[in-house]
Amino acid sequence: MPGTFDRTRGTALTREVSPEFVQAVSGFFNTRVPDFDAARGAQEAYFAALRAHGTEVVTLPALSGYPDCSFIEDTAIIIDDKAVIPNLGHPSRNGEQDSIAEFLADDLEIVRMPAGASLDGGDVVFYDDRFLVGLSTRTNRDGADFLAVHAEQAGFGTQLFDVPDTTLHLTTICSSPRAGTMVAAEGQLGPEDLAFAEEVIWVPNEEGYAANTIAYGDRIIIADGYPKARRLMLDAGFSITTVDMTEFREVDASLTCLSVFIG
Ligand code: GLY
Repeated sequence: MPGTFDRTRGTALTREVSPEFVQAVSGFFNTRVPDFDAARGAQEAYFAALRAHGTEVVTLPALSGYPDCSFIEDTAIIIDDKAVIPNLGHPSRNGEQDSIAEFLADDLEIVRMPAGASLDGGDVVFYDDRFLVGLSTRTNRDGADFLAVHAEQAGFGTQLFDVPDTTLHLTTICSSPRAGTMVAAEGQLGPEDLAFAEEVIWVPNEEGYAANTIAYGDRIIIADGYPKARRLMLDAGFSITTVDMTEFREVDASLTCLSVFIG
């Protein structure tokens, strides 16, 4: 139905971890050099979790010269039968989007962002009737406005957020697992930010990484290792699958970064 976000996750478009993964951009969580083989293994476990929930996983080859290329979420925002292809906000990543635009062009209308506007898909969270868009070091006002035009054409609203400088993306600190519900990290967002939601599951800030979720109705995938967040989501009626995201967290990436859901 136009104007109501469809949480169907029939197909996930993903991309292989880059052989240059150790050079991925990292500014928040980094405690050590990430391990390529461990990341590959974690990505396989992630694919298995998606498949176990009925999602078909399509994996594109790694892009030479782009260590962050497996974080494909940033490269396309799907709005019904349209793919908004942004200019990515980090210079080392801008260019990753060309390949996905080419891939999606057979099935979707492709709209490219004008020069000067920038946006990472990681700053876009889908909530029932609107797109929540974070203004961040990656997403500027022109990028958010460009997305808003296309969202509006499809019957969606947009709501802007200032992403705190303690985190990279809006998706790093919140998600909307089911209609009416937000999961958010305490201290990163406040109740006034999410006043539109019928239910907010507040995750303690020290476990805020687990606010990034992939949900299938009341079944939810979260990062492994966040027991308080897990308990809160169980109490909210979700059944839970966990995936070890340790290697990806080292380079500021979360569960949703690894997919673009295209139907
Ligand atoms: N390493 C993920 C990003 O900086 O976009």
